[in-house]
Amino acid sequence: MNVLVTGGAGYIGSVVVARLLEAGHDVTVIDDLSTGHRDAVPDGAQFVLGRVQQVSSTLVRQTFDGVVHLAASSLVAESIADPQKYETNNVAGTRHLLEALLAAGIWKIVFSSSAAVYGEPARVPIEEDAPTDPLNPYGASKATVDQMLGEEAARHGIAAVSLRYFNVAGSYGTLGERHDPETHLIPLTLRAALEGKPIAVFGDDYPTPDGTCIRDYIHVVDIADAHLLALGVASPGTWRVYNLGNGEGFSVRQVIAAARRVTGMMLAEHVSTRRAGDPAVLVASSERARRELGWVPRKPELDEMVADSWHLVQRQQQ
Ligand code: UFG
Repeated sequence: MNVLVTGGAGYIGSVVVARLLEAGHDVTVIDDLSTGHRDAVPDGAQFVLGRVQQVSSTLVRQTFDGVVHLAASSLVAESIADPQKYETNNVAGTRHLLEALLAAGIWKIVFSSSAAVYGEPARVPIEEDAPTDPLNPYGASKATVDQMLGEEAARHGIAAVSLRYFNVAGSYGTLGERHDPETHLIPLTLRAALEGKPIAVFGDDYPTPDGTCIRDYIHVVDIADAHLLALGVASPGTWRVYNLGNGEGFSVRQVIAAARRVTGMMLAEHVSTRRAGDPAVLVASSERARRELGWVPRKPELDEMVADSWHLVQRQQQ
């Protein structure tokens, strides 16, 4: 297949590109490098510097069999401070992309959605037909695009798949998390270990066994492989949704404990106030992805995810 990957210079996008290339596909990346890195685009992929809003000029130059759409703004706190940015980049950007795809006769799209669409779930593990009730504009933008894809599938017959990622972790070769600012627990914990500083625990008064938030961590290579499977099952006139997680939750304190095991370092923690927009527990049911995509996470162990991230952090220090 000839695949266009938007956001292919980012953390997850770059691993998606690597796995597509390894599977023998042709890949073109479009990325504005606002958060991505040019050197994260794996060799063998064509690179176009640009925003999703400019994608049509790329599309007319060649025909793609499908698009994997990851380009987005993805900071929860930023989305609360600047919701318009999320409307512009995530919602309007995707609307433009879909129009360009339809004009170019490209019918297949795999979209990077998020567990953030569910908000505070009524039941865990969360199934795909749980109501969407996002707690922040980031999650709302992903829910809006999901809905848009459903409508476009019904109206124009596109083949659409939304993959709702839970908490992505780990690295793949030299590809890993390089966010600026970094907001995610695992990279911040590893950085704290390296610098000998304490890690902040955002709230220990949640209704969970140890009082800290519980998340379902999933290895980035398993996330990436789900995109390849989704490209295979996407069928015209259909919008499918799949949760991607391991179905097991770990608290913030359990993640910090994993980082202590992996690094062998003393890692102090200090409790600070809750972070706005954080649900207490997010754990996926990924039964549908397993059943319909044949998706089987190969690296489900938390310690392995933390270790993969740690190896990359150490390599970057050298
Ligand atoms: N946390 C801390 N200290 C930190 C950083 C995070 O205690 O320094 C806590 C958070 O409060 C949260 C947990 O660790 O309870 C995980 O936080 P992350 O920022 O690593 O991940 P999130 O669960 O907030 O975010 C992930 C995705 C987002 C997505 C969100 C949906 O990274 O893109 O899930 O809820 F929007």
